[in-house]
Amino acid sequence: SHVTLALNPAFRVAPVRRRTFGAFVEHLGRCVYTGIHEPGHPSADEDGFRTDVLALTRELGVSSVRYPGGNFVSGYRWEDGIGPAEERPARHDLAWHSTDPNTVGLDEFMAWVSKAGVEPMYAVNLGTRGIEEALDVLQYANAPEGIALSDERAANGHAAPYGISMWCLGNEMDGPWQTGHKTPEEYARLATETARAMRQEDPDLELIACGSSNSSMETFGEWESTVLTEAYDHVDMISAHAYYSEKDGDQASFLASADDMDYFIDSVVATADHVRAKLGRDKRIMVSFDEWNIWYQHRAESRPPSGDDWPVAPVLLEDTYSAMDAVVFGNLLISLLRHSDRVASASLAQLVNVIAPIMTAPGGAAWKQTTFHPFALTSRHAAGEVLDVRLQAPRFENARFGTSAAADAVATWDEEAGDLTVFVVNRGADAPLALDADLAAFGDLELVEALTLHHEDPYAANTQDAPETVTPAINDSVALTDGHLAGDLPAISWTMVRLA
Ligand code: AHR
Repeated sequence: SHVTLALNPAFRVAPVRRRTFGAFVEHLGRCVYTGIHEPGHPSADEDGFRTDVLALTRELGVSSVRYPGGNFVSGYRWEDGIGPAEERPARHDLAWHSTDPNTVGLDEFMAWVSKAGVEPMYAVNLGTRGIEEALDVLQYANAPEGIALSDERAANGHAAPYGISMWCLGNEMDGPWQTGHKTPEEYARLATETARAMRQEDPDLELIACGSSNSSMETFGEWESTVLTEAYDHVDMISAHAYYSEKDGDQASFLASADDMDYFIDSVVATADHVRAKLGRDKRIMVSFDEWNIWYQHRAESRPPSGDDWPVAPVLLEDTYSAMDAVVFGNLLISLLRHSDRVASASLAQLVNVIAPIMTAPGGAAWKQTTFHPFALTSRHAAGEVLDVRLQAPRFENARFGTSAAADAVATWDEEAGDLTVFVVNRGADAPLALDADLAAFGDLELVEALTLHHEDPYAANTQDAPETVTPAINDSVALTDGHLAGDLPAISWTMVRLA
């Protein structure tokens, strides 16, 4: 069977946004402690940050990093994490039934952000807290010296304001599992008034209201509509979160997961635009897809401790990703890129150890999961304008979506540099697909490289002992002849083709 791509430089969607390639660091499990921060580790720098993880973060091509949660933030007191480390209180983290020693807080995170060369995105606690504490952390972070909280920052060694631009107004407030969970109406009021107050402090902030925790939430759609009807003039983005996994052996539905991401984004955009019309506004609300990934939520790895056990930095949510996971993951990136006209920001959840592309052993090595590769390659090579790709491919049946196309693709075109990059997945489990695309409209191009991520065992994974089991390899079946691109895409594979 074939997949035929229709590609043209005129099919522009929007510029590639660097913020599509954000990630997420939560005080959860070993993401912070023994993830980004491990004083005493052989690679640790003078601030206790693992330089091996910093190097991998840069190689991953991460643009922005959301912090400090996640469910964690809904019980977090940000001021526990500032000042002399030895004076900081340890606290129970209710979300993950853990103890946080608070040795890492805002100032340490901002030091790490500058070493990693990323942009921070900060979430305030709207679970147990409200407007006043949101203003406090905003002033501590961003106000010039001369008021109590910014002087405290300076006294802690950071005279210059951090200038954090993106602020999340809480986390997953629609979820019954969230500390301080709200009804749509309750959250709409709180988010609006918090946003209004934060803008009184600084009108230029980029504010993100909580949207739905997934597209199957009972309140999905109604939540966005209620929140935006109230908060429209005060926020810039609304969040979306989604995690996918193979459930009950239903591989076919899992392979088609990006169909849900498309549906999710399209639905939120439609709802936001409905509110726009209703209110008669010009501005458009953008989507911040600030948690997305593969997550095997039902497995033991994701069960928090219980009872009297409140450990510091336990092993939690440490999923090991397979070749197939990386293919679905690469497809989710295709979906995000395709929606670059409305998805203004996205964060892979998370960065290290916790459902992460980067893994570490305490005191030991750091290595790349399978998902590291499609992220790093897409971040590095998506450039210029996103192009819509229309494709013809066979369809396969699955329980979740009925039928889905066996292939999915997006392209980016950097006209100035003359670089065309095509990202394409074969998400059929049974048969290879013959790729077929007429590129004549792009003028004279040459093939630079074609890389395919595939393993004959779709469940093969990268581990500490065998970290190179699944890596992208040169696909030498791909060729460009007289402006015509052709090649073979193995079953369950992700491919990047670069032309210039
Ligand atoms: O990323 C793991 C968790 O998933 C986050 O803490 C929460 O926001 C979401 O439910």
